[in-house]
Amino acid sequence: MYKIIVTDKLNADAIEMLKGFGEVTYDTEIKSDELKVIIKDFDAIIVRSRTKVTADIINAATNLKVIGRAGVGVDNIDVKAATSRRIPVVFSPGGSTRSVVEIAVGLMVAMARDIVNLDNETKKGIWLKGKVEGTELHGKVIGIYGFGRIGRELAKICMAMGMKIHAYDPYVKDSDDAILYNDFNKFLSEIDILSVHAVLTSQTNHSIGTKEFNIMKKGIYIINLARGEIIDENSLINAIESGIVKGAALDVYEHEPPVNTKLVNFKNVIALPHIGAATAEAQKKSGTMIVKDVIAVLSGKKPESCVNSSILDG
Ligand code: MLT
Repeated sequence: MYKIIVTDKLNADAIEMLKGFGEVTYDTEIKSDELKVIIKDFDAIIVRSRTKVTADIINAATNLKVIGRAGVGVDNIDVKAATSRRIPVVFSPGGSTRSVVEIAVGLMVAMARDIVNLDNETKKGIWLKGKVEGTELHGKVIGIYGFGRIGRELAKICMAMGMKIHAYDPYVKDSDDAILYNDFNKFLSEIDILSVHAVLTSQTNHSIGTKEFNIMKKGIYIINLARGEIIDENSLINAIESGIVKGAALDVYEHEPPVNTKLVNFKNVIALPHIGAATAEAQKKSGTMIVKDVIAVLSGKKPESCVNSSILDG
């Protein structure tokens, strides 16, 4: 019987599916040094974003046949180390698309109408009617940085809201829904709201810093539901203080939980604890997708979504 370890919270239906297939160890508190010691006993590991599947862990995993990441970003997995040991890394793109899109829209509206601060004031008994002037999103230009599944779905919803859709993604060459840019700086200079949905890579890491903020229109809103490292947080602080950035909604940080308390405490920053995909629906979809793919690999079948699929071909 296959032995499978799950080291981050996984949807209950997904765990049940897994139990029907193998012997499951479910430990969402395990530390990386403990995991390094016991990983040799397991055929499969399933994680979300808490567990870092480092080269050390992969090299200690002498029986490991598959790594499953219930989620989109695989930046917490050393894919290079897994590939050199010919271990497939499966993931669940698409499982959280709708949830991330919906929260992006919610954050956009919340910033444009200052919902969080007005709620706080009203609860304190401060009645600001007549003293508030929000912004309509209709007619505004949303700049979608990263035009994959989430970016494209967001574009459709924003179009229905009467927004203009501009997008930047060097891997996407055409779109019926968006004006696509080759020039990142030009893209940044023409948008009213920036919504980040790019994958974290060495190219996207700190791809938005002081130089990029200085190109943007004064009064831009920023949303980051992708990865914190894509935006240089100190540059974002300066851009908020100088008024270039009118508001920011952040779900992800360079370090999580965030250590940059100045950033999360600005009144015009909405700070969330990396919950873009934290809905019952997204967790069920991502969990069951990943379990199906882990079972597929262990059964000698082709998984749906594998990051290093070339090792399965050879
Ligand atoms: C993802 O990459 O799927 C999301 O950031 C959600 C997560 O990691 O928890």
